Amino acid sequence: MYSAGGFRFLSKGVIMEAGSRRKFLGICLGGLLAGAGGGLLYTLFGYLAPRRGSNAHSVVSFPVTDVPVGTAKFFDYNGKPAVLIRQKNGTLVALSAVCTHLGCIVQWQKDKEEFLCPCHGGRFSSAGLVLGGPPPKPLESIPIATNNGTINVG
Ligand code: FES
Repeated sequence: MYSAGGFRFLSKGVIMEAGSRRKFLGICLGGLLAGAGGGLLYTLFGYLAPRRGSNAHSVVSFPVTDVPVGTAKFFDYNGKPAVLIRQKNGTLVALSAVCTHLGCIVQWQKDKEEFLCPCHGGRFSSAGLVLGGPPPKPLESIPIATNNGTINVG
């Protein structure tokens, strides 16, 4: 391979313009980066957006032992994320896990015993009340009943 006058001469008479190879590699690299960026955005959206569909139930049941004191158990309720919390005083609470600001999924902060929304820093108490940030109203409450060691949500 040798070059002369802005052309690159490859083996057996194949000629490639000097700038076109760089342009081709730039297009390939751009395509790879666009694909990787799209995949990352899709994964991030899937994590933050509420789920829909297949696991919809009007009543969901768990053994009481699934939710020890101070812990939270996330589950699907009518196709949307929900959470069951046993507060430190032993009270069980079921809430929608969808933030009332723009719909991100809240996360349980066990050490603080409150929920944090990762999108804009909204904070909710273990009862779902707004503690801070932009959420305009509390997390939606879901009715629960316990019977013979089983928690029925819904
Ligand atoms: S979506 Fe939760 S604070 Fe904005």
